[in-house]
Amino acid sequence: MEKFYITTAIDYVNGAPHIGHAYEKILTDVIYRHFTQRCDKTYFLTGTDEHGIKIQKTSKENNMSEKDFCDMNAQKFKDAWKALNIDYTKFIRTTDEAHEKVVQKIFKKLLDKGDIYKHSYTGLYCSGCEAFLSEKDLTEDGLCPDHQKKPEVVSEENYFFRLTKYKDAIIKHIKINPDFIVPSYRANEVLNQLENIEDISVSRSKSNVSWNIPVLGDDEQGIYVWIDALSNYITALGYDPDGSSDLFEDFWPADVQVIGKDILKFHSIYWLGILMALDLPLPKHILAHGWITIDQTKMSKSLGNVISPTSIMEAFNLEISDPLRYYMASAAPCGKDGNYSDEDFKEKVNAHLANSMGNLLNRTLSMLVKYFEGNIKPEFLGKNELAQAAIDTVKAVKHHFDYYEVTEAAQKIIELVDITNKYVTDNAPWTLAKEGNIEKCGEVLTNVLEVMCVITSLIYPFCPNIAQKMAEQLSFDINIKLDDLTCSNIKAGHLIDKENIKPVFLRMDSELADKGSKK
Ligand code: ME8
Ligand code: MG
Repeated sequence: MEKFYITTAIDYVNGAPHIGHAYEKILTDVIYRHFTQRCDKTYFLTGTDEHGIKIQKTSKENNMSEKDFCDMNAQKFKDAWKALNIDYTKFIRTTDEAHEKVVQKIFKKLLDKGDIYKHSYTGLYCSGCEAFLSEKDLTEDGLCPDHQKKPEVVSEENYFFRLTKYKDAIIKHIKINPDFIVPSYRANEVLNQLENIEDISVSRSKSNVSWNIPVLGDDEQGIYVWIDALSNYITALGYDPDGSSDLFEDFWPADVQVIGKDILKFHSIYWLGILMALDLPLPKHILAHGWITIDQTKMSKSLGNVISPTSIMEAFNLEISDPLRYYMASAAPCGKDGNYSDEDFKEKVNAHLANSMGNLLNRTLSMLVKYFEGNIKPEFLGKNELAQAAIDTVKAVKHHFDYYEVTEAAQKIIELVDITNKYVTDNAPWTLAKEGNIEKCGEVLTNVLEVMCVITSLIYPFCPNIAQKMAEQLSFDINIKLDDLTCSNIKAGHLIDKENIKPVFLRMDSELADKGSKK
């Protein structure tokens, strides 16, 4: 693989980030970090979606200018992603001047081409969706099913994008590329929606919506959010109808665009139409993830159960985000809904990261110090009964990531941890030492440490901090590419002293963890 370009949805800044937003960014970051272990040229784009009626209204309610309101909330997203160790390459805001200019040019290009035209229209507008809905999209009571709100009747002369012109090409693309939409079972949904597709409104009258990018040469009209929002994926790289940057040439098309299932229609229909109209290549995959619920209930402001990722970290006194990253990234099988609960969070990370993985490294290194003063003798190295399992796991994890099956990849890693734990129990190195079978004892411990290096590499995308601590104690190079990873990572000689053995992750309710956080 030569290059890897991954994007997230850009979040509306009408509020602070919650764990649904966090889920998507963590999932994307884990996939991104995995692919940095497989290719040299990688790019990760995220950002915020800042125009439209919803943001115009919310700023007014907060007695703030739109600009100040967006600045304030965009910063909250940036801060949250920093706390979660989201390693994005670029954070785009749709109010960035460079983005706005190129969106205007894109609009003009499509207008000149005849793919955008002016048309009078009466429609039902849901500001929650920032989209026009048709009668059949509504519930029996005439409400938007996603926002449980009655859409407004809007009568305007707007610009329309000739989506119907690209309908057949979009259908064909989805049919001949069954892995374009991930998970593939969602493709049918999209094909059904395509049956009834119409041209879409791509502007709003300035008198109704003022907070948007003006249409060049038409003071009456502003560019409506989706053409503005979707274009971020190319403007961020330096796409320009008059000549794009090298960065754009290097990275476009995206390898995978990560979004929630509620906006799949916009990404697998509208976005393809726009790209086709611009004569640009299409993204290779759209990954539509599921919904995160809280204690099995939908998160909503009215229910008052919206949880922010930083509040979880504060509640558990977490100094690093690794446990939350690990938990969220493995919250749901690819494309399915997942759930957050405090109890489950604590239980799962204690079991997997502290008891199984962390403890395994800790007691193995402690035995190496106790029996061998922290030295690896050359005769300990060589045949390793665990090598096959470790190498098979690397293969399986890569395979799962090829299909963006992040939860499934995490399961494979923990399986390897379990196999290794069982190996220690079965071989009982402490008994070997007691019985004077010291050579064998050294071999067993070394075999385990070899596998711990492999586990360090594999767990890194989920838990970068913990992996770093593991790598330090193992004198293992964490930057090794997965293709170069073997099960022979440990060198003969002195590995570690007693005082350098530290738990890599403490149980979240342990006394030590409490003391650590009070410092
Ligand atoms: O849709 N669980 O913004 P947004 C999982 N600006 N994912 C969730 C979620 C939940 N409970 N709630 C939201 C928008 N998301 C547009 C996108 S892209 C060019 C423009 C996900 O702030 C949601 O599915 O409403 C989407 O992918 C992202 O968070 C931003 O949602
Ligand atoms: Mg939304």
